Amino acid sequence: MTALCVAEFRARAKRKLPKFAFDYLDGGAGSEAGIRRNEQAFEDLVFRPRALVNVETRDLSTTLFGRRWAAPFGIAPVGLSNLLCPGGDEAIAGAAVAADIPYTLSTAGTTSLERIAEIAPQHGWFQLYVSRSDDDVADIVTRAERAGYDVLLVTVDIPVPARRLRDLRNNFSMPFRITPLVAYELVTHPSWSLRTLAAGRPRFATIERYAPSDRESLAAYMSSQIRSKYDWGELAKLRERWPRRLVVKGLMNAEDVLHARELGCDGVVISNHGGRQMESGPATIDLVPEIRSAVGPDYPLLVDSGVRSGEHIIKALAAGADFVLIGRAMMYAVAGLGTPGAKAAIDLMIDEASRCLGQIGYTDIASVKQAKPVRLPRTTA
Ligand SMILES: Cc1cc2nc3c(=O)[nH]c(=O)nc-3n(C[C@H](O)[C@H](O)[C@H](O)COP(=O)(O)O)c2cc1C
Repeated sequence: MTALCVAEFRARAKRKLPKFAFDYLDGGAGSEAGIRRNEQAFEDLVFRPRALVNVETRDLSTTLFGRRWAAPFGIAPVGLSNLLCPGGDEAIAGAAVAADIPYTLSTAGTTSLERIAEIAPQHGWFQLYVSRSDDDVADIVTRAERAGYDVLLVTVDIPVPARRLRDLRNNFSMPFRITPLVAYELVTHPSWSLRTLAAGRPRFATIERYAPSDRESLAAYMSSQIRSKYDWGELAKLRERWPRRLVVKGLMNAEDVLHARELGCDGVVISNHGGRQMESGPATIDLVPEIRSAVGPDYPLLVDSGVRSGEHIIKALAAGADFVLIGRAMMYAVAGLGTPGAKAAIDLMIDEASRCLGQIGYTDIASVKQAKPVRLPRTTA
């Protein structure tokens, strides 16, 4: 049966994936209140439709970073995506090219940055995690430049490691350890296990060359790579070093966004990492109007965290964002449907966004910024 919405992608993903992999995708920090708050805040925003407007022709295309995209959303960086769907990075990048939207490869991605640059030369963005080693970071940035990436997103919302209780309980680590529980999950999810076996063990394909090769040391290396001392001074140096567009991902305060703009960053992603870093952050969609009024109408603001439908995308734009990134919504689709899920997720978002636009009486992305969604009284948090 066809999956008709993101909740159905998620249900399929839950059935298909071993528990440790589903929990890695679905889970978040602490009690996971941050995830619930992100999602609920989108639900609590509603539109009062304008009636009797000719909406026969609707156009979702929009301009960002000097070019036109077919739709106002792109794919957020997701580490270890081939664990969720073998061949996932390549399939999603290919589907993004076909749909003419951007795809962001994570530093912790399971396909190399060079390979994604071949698949998506005009549509690939690269997300940078600044690790402890200056040499490694310098080398990755040089490789991204050589490979031709136009947009570098530097993620700044993991100053310290998260406590994700599901991962801790599952003893989740990469490369994963075959404990009795993991062995049971592998046996009870034979189709995932066989596909993963055939595709080869998921690897940190961009950064594995900097890490020790044996299993234990690679796991220890990965968990020791968070650079807690990363600060504005270091970001300023990256700004000097990177000659193309630099976007800061993971800001939640107007002051920080203004600071990034002063440093010459080309835009920001208002993001709380999908509630994966802490449970007590505000919902990102709630921050958009305030940050938009602080930076004025022209500074590029992207938003992610909690987007589960095309209607949510339109809400984010009407609240003041220029562009939206989807994280779990895409990964539930490829985890649940396999690689065809990449196109299915994009098609679904486009279909829902276009219907929403028509339903509320708008025909394009520039004008929907006037739609002003209304916030219902908060029911849960
Ligand atoms: C499984 C998973 C892995 C992620 N890995 C990364 C990553 O490597 N780099 C990064 O900047 N963000 C990462 N994120 C955060 C996403 O880029 C994005 O901010 C988040 O998923 C948005 O929230 P949503 O999943 O509710 O849409 C990850 C998210 C998930 C769900």
